[in-house]
Amino acid sequence: MDGSTANQNQPSGKNLVNLGPVPELRERGRAVLKVKGRQIALFETDGKLFAINNRCPHEGYPLVEGSLKKGCQLACNWHGWTFDLASGKALQGRDAVKTYAVTRVRGDILIDLAPEDPSVLRARAYGELDEALAEHDYDRIARSLARLEAAGEEVENTLRHVISLSVHRFERGFGHAFAGLADWLAFSAHSDQATRRVALLEAIGHISWDMLMGTDAPLPRLRKRWSAKACLEALEDMNEEEATAHIRGAFDEGLGFQAVKPVFEALIFAHYAGFGHPAIYLMKAEQLIDALGQEVAEPLALSLARYLCHAAREDLIPEFKGFADYLALEPGFSPVPKVECLSGQSVRQVFALTAASNAHVHEMWEALLAASAMNMLRFDIERQHGIAQPIAQNIGWLDFTHAITFAEAVHFHGGRNAALWQSGLTQMAAFVGRNAPFLMAEMDEGRFVDDIQAFLGAQKAKLFNMDEGDYIYAVHRLKMLRATEALLVHVSKPTARLIVAALNRYLHARTRQRHPARTAFQAWQTVARES
Ligand code: FES
Repeated sequence: MDGSTANQNQPSGKNLVNLGPVPELRERGRAVLKVKGRQIALFETDGKLFAINNRCPHEGYPLVEGSLKKGCQLACNWHGWTFDLASGKALQGRDAVKTYAVTRVRGDILIDLAPEDPSVLRARAYGELDEALAEHDYDRIARSLARLEAAGEEVENTLRHVISLSVHRFERGFGHAFAGLADWLAFSAHSDQATRRVALLEAIGHISWDMLMGTDAPLPRLRKRWSAKACLEALEDMNEEEATAHIRGAFDEGLGFQAVKPVFEALIFAHYAGFGHPAIYLMKAEQLIDALGQEVAEPLALSLARYLCHAAREDLIPEFKGFADYLALEPGFSPVPKVECLSGQSVRQVFALTAASNAHVHEMWEALLAASAMNMLRFDIERQHGIAQPIAQNIGWLDFTHAITFAEAVHFHGGRNAALWQSGLTQMAAFVGRNAPFLMAEMDEGRFVDDIQAFLGAQKAKLFNMDEGDYIYAVHRLKMLRATEALLVHVSKPTARLIVAALNRYLHARTRQRHPARTAFQAWQTVARES
């Protein structure tokens, strides 16, 4: 060895590459070389040699152009990320740059290109991903996912990791981000790799955003012997600690999600709660378990239990108080009403019409679904923009789309457990009735679609590069599209036409996301009433 001291690790072994004297390094103190397909930047400073990847881990600009600072630091001149040349650690910025062991022997530069152990690469990428998730650093999440893929990690393992981490940040439990993950996975399953990567990024980005909005909320650790009865009572009492203790017990005893699911169903279909989300989330939890395996069953079950303990019981508010009474009635055998007779009716009227005909389960379900779609075609979208109005008159597209996604959940659960149909239909009735005050007299007739499959294909393609601002609005486009596609196989042609037209209208109308004037007006009104 002559002259400079080697980098921290002495290069050795069969992966040593002799780069020759590299005169530019002597002359300029830096050089860049292509070695076995890699661009490697060499630096000689403070009497020491360093070799690093020439591509900045931020956006890939050449680090050989960077500025050397004292203490053997290198600043990338594009955005200022600064690296410790010996370790590669980012001192300013985020991701580390890869370093190589390097030395000079008899005037030649020797560099060690030994590949890193994939397990080390994966561990580093997971470390970066966890940090990126905590900050919702979207670009860094993407880079971490790319590095995990490059290190040979299975996407399913990454998703299991993200779920197990995020459930402890979701203080209100299972939410749209998990539901969206199920839909992204389903929609991208048969797509090309580039599309699957977008789906993965967007799904994890949404989870990260919800983690950022949450607080540290570890799931309770208490464990109790499994008792379905005690678990259901705890869920009814919204006692999360007690409910999750029993659910943990079920998993400890090897009973798994199949033991817990009937308890969830019993609770979910005993109430009109959480704007229909409980039934939707249970369906999505099952789909995620199917896609990602039993490893995610316990965290998802616990997260769902937490959500159920927080979901508002809307069947307790005056508008829906008849819900329990209608559930208690014997099935009704009257002919199923026409769609036009359901759309526009009040909650009480739709409850009564549904109860009178709910023995015809499938026909009634389709009629309520079609009425929900008709409501979307009759939604007076100007009502989104109201300002000086009571909070009860606030309305937006998502109030309507849930009727469709909920209908899919009812079909999913009812198809597996017929005892759930009656409640499912009654809850669908609540959706149809609650939107009645916000309808126009006539449908928007211009939204019907001739070629349904071509339309759905084009809309699905758009999903993978949409720029809806908030994830919550993006994920509802995804959910609506996914639900519509799933529903089409269960309905007649006229209903299919209606729900696709409803989707078309929703996707092409402006979805108002913020209401500064209304929010201010209503906040001051609320506070004025406090005194
Ligand atoms: S590309 Fe180097 S800091 Fe951005």
